[in-house]
Amino acid sequence: MRTITTSCVVIGSGIAGLSTALGHGDAVVVSKTALGEGSSRWAQGGIAAAVGNDDSPDLHADDTVRVSAGLGRETIAALVAEGAGERIEWLRSLGASFDVDDAGEFSLGKEAGHSRHRIIHANGDATGAEVMRTLTAAVAQRPDITCLDQTFALDLLVDDMGQAAGVLALDADGNHVAIIARAVVLATGGIGRVYQHTTNPVEVTGDGFAMAIRAGVEVRDPEFVQFHPTALHSDLDPMPLLTEALRGEGAHLVDAAGHRFMVDAHDDAELAPRDIVARHIHWQRQSGPVFLDARNIGPEFPTRFPTVWAISQSVGLDPRVDVLPVSPAEHYHMGGIATDERGRTSMPRLYAVGEAASTGLHGANRLASNSLLEGLVFGARVAVTAATETDSSPQIDEIRVAASAFDVDADRARERDVDDAVDALRTTMWDHVGLVRDEAGLEYAVRHIQALADPLRFHREGRNLATVGLTVATSALDRRESRGSHHRSDHTAVSSAPRHTRLRPEPVAMCVLSDLHVGQNACVEAGA
Ligand code: FAD
Ligand code: SIN
Repeated sequence: MRTITTSCVVIGSGIAGLSTALGHGDAVVVSKTALGEGSSRWAQGGIAAAVGNDDSPDLHADDTVRVSAGLGRETIAALVAEGAGERIEWLRSLGASFDVDDAGEFSLGKEAGHSRHRIIHANGDATGAEVMRTLTAAVAQRPDITCLDQTFALDLLVDDMGQAAGVLALDADGNHVAIIARAVVLATGGIGRVYQHTTNPVEVTGDGFAMAIRAGVEVRDPEFVQFHPTALHSDLDPMPLLTEALRGEGAHLVDAAGHRFMVDAHDDAELAPRDIVARHIHWQRQSGPVFLDARNIGPEFPTRFPTVWAISQSVGLDPRVDVLPVSPAEHYHMGGIATDERGRTSMPRLYAVGEAASTGLHGANRLASNSLLEGLVFGARVAVTAATETDSSPQIDEIRVAASAFDVDADRARERDVDDAVDALRTTMWDHVGLVRDEAGLEYAVRHIQALADPLRFHREGRNLATVGLTVATSALDRRESRGSHHRSDHTAVSSAPRHTRLRPEPVAMCVLSDLHVGQNACVEAGA
């Protein structure tokens, strides 16, 4: 087996992974896609940053915590909000171009839950593309950063002190490669593909979350899954997003009769927190279609919102004259690998950043446009922490990896069985672990997903999706209250004692990579 030794291996090349690699230097970036793919590139609305004259990081942090349904951490919200201005200037110094007004000041958008206009954007609604263009170009200029694209991280390598020691991956030719590193950073993004309807691209399959669980790393609040209110209602997969910035510019949600039902539901109407708008659309859709009426934006629509314009045109709609059919779709995972304020996980030398992490910023409901910002701020923090904390090499006498990593085998993962099982998993998650949950549905989901795990175990992403689905469903079953994005029709009250779900799974059976030759593995039980 090929081995590579480096100071830091970063798994994932979205905004979080590349920010970390650029900050750290002397790093290997592993990406199962081409470099820079992931949700980041698809971001529309923008990056929240309190840079307006009427704004302050304190106000931004207050909004973040207020919307988080009692579980957002004030200290994390404060450090993220305070870091925004500097991170935006860093992106600009690398060549990012953001939209500005005639006076050269940032043109600031507004989104739900924000008390101020504070969303910095690029090319109207193509912010993620501009940010990722900038970051991938910056990485290409850095000889100290090696990028392994089309390389799939299977599982964490762990040394005999229980510290992260690298990652076992499959390269573009399907060969194993062991990357041994002093610091390991999981930046694998969210879990969107575990749901039938999602805005997330196909690569977002919760791989890092599942890897962490197999290695016994603590995860937090898996049940908090954000559903974006306005995906274009269609058979398309992923479901195209119609940015919340449209509602920030005055677009309305209407039923088939043209009635603005959100006005009856919440004082902030269409700009109520995202979980509330998404649920009301879900309920409204039980009796008929729901539309986004963005005709107020007028003739400038194609230049102000070019991404949504192109989406609409592709399905034969013109948002200047047509209302757009919408339904909610899975969008973001607030839960994730538990980290502290420096991105450290429960395993020494292992860090998590971006959507894969649960830093405590979002609580039970994320404020719009806070996740690109979180990836930028925490990417820089993790880079510094990893570089300063891991100056010695890991103990490499005996490196272990989850034995099931070697079950992944394209020949044994029969395509049709896998496709059927993944479809069944995604439908089960949507039907029973979606916007509105109850005990009977969640119990059914847990049983059904357990049964689906078997046909998925040979498939590199299927086994991760099964782990993600089971973990989200069991945590949702255990939370007998409604809070933020987690709504139980059988427990509608919010508990007076907010609590986090903290899971510290038993590590799975591990194999020793003796001399780093796969053929010479001796399998041992975890912790033996
Ligand atoms: P990602 O950008 O998803 O990157 C994950 C990376 O990990 C990818 O490179 C992938 O290839 C790699 N990877 C995954 N598994 C493996 C593996 N096993 N081996 C190797 N590599 C792996 N947020 C905002 O703040 N503002 C917005 O305007 C906004 N708009 C959005 C619009 C859409 C359509 C979507 C889907 C999301 C949007 N979000 C927005 C959310 C935001 O984009 C994401 O939360 C954020 O980009 C996540 O960044 P990340 O770096 O953590 O993960
Ligand atoms: C959007 O543009 O509506 C997405 C913003 C986000 O998810 O943060």
